[in-house]
Amino acid sequence: MDLKSLRREYKNGSLNESDIDKNPFHQFKIWFSQVLESQLLEPTAMVLATSDKNSNPSARVVLLKEFNETGFIFCTNYLSRKGNEIAENPRGALLFYWAELERQIRIEGVITKIDRRESKKYFNARPLESRVGAISSKQSSPLESRSVLESSYTELLNKYNSENSEPETPENWGGYILLPDYFEFWQGRESRLHDRITYSLKDSSWHIQRLYP
Ligand SMILES: Cc1cc2nc3c(=O)[nH]c(=O)nc-3n(C[C@H](O)[C@H](O)[C@H](O)COP(=O)(O)O)c2cc1C
Repeated sequence: MDLKSLRREYKNGSLNESDIDKNPFHQFKIWFSQVLESQLLEPTAMVLATSDKNSNPSARVVLLKEFNETGFIFCTNYLSRKGNEIAENPRGALLFYWAELERQIRIEGVITKIDRRESKKYFNARPLESRVGAISSKQSSPLESRSVLESSYTELLNKYNSENSEPETPENWGGYILLPDYFEFWQGRESRLHDRITYSLKDSSWHIQRLYP
């Protein structure tokens, strides 16, 4: 496979200090609104990077459930690999890459569990099938065979359907919020002279800095 010849120029846009919002959350909202307008597949998909107590890194895609001027919320299994890593080292990073827009956003900060009531709200908003799917999954634990998962899923789904009852939010399922202290907005430019604008939180205010591409 000759990957060297797979090159393209980035010509869609630019990012200038004079155009950006001084508040990175507002800047995120501007770009995210453009993502939604562009009708991309999985616009909320983001890479979450965590690491364990020995600094071994790991990364995976999760879905952004909500963002506000405090942080970025995603939901998962608290006993998963990521959950265990967050318990060992609460610092994490998020990465959004929207190829069609030639844009990337990097966000770093501290991750903490959201309020239990909020987690229940997210859980109850899911279709029954995905609630039962979440209950049936011991996420990140070894699974002997697919049929073990499928039979426990089917058994549970039948139980809730026949009883006409709603599952409780499992104790080990819920939301996390990443509270950012660093953002980087990347816009692809021609000849690899990309724009990179960063925001770092210092003494409760955001400091803006351009980086070499
Ligand atoms: C598009 C996409 C969306 C996903 N969304 C989530 C999510 O919101 N929450 C989640 O726990 N896993 C999600 N996953 C699965 C994770 O990438 C990962 O496989 C799982 O969370 C286990 O990761 P861990 O073993 O590192 O904890 C998603 C995967 C993809 C590809």
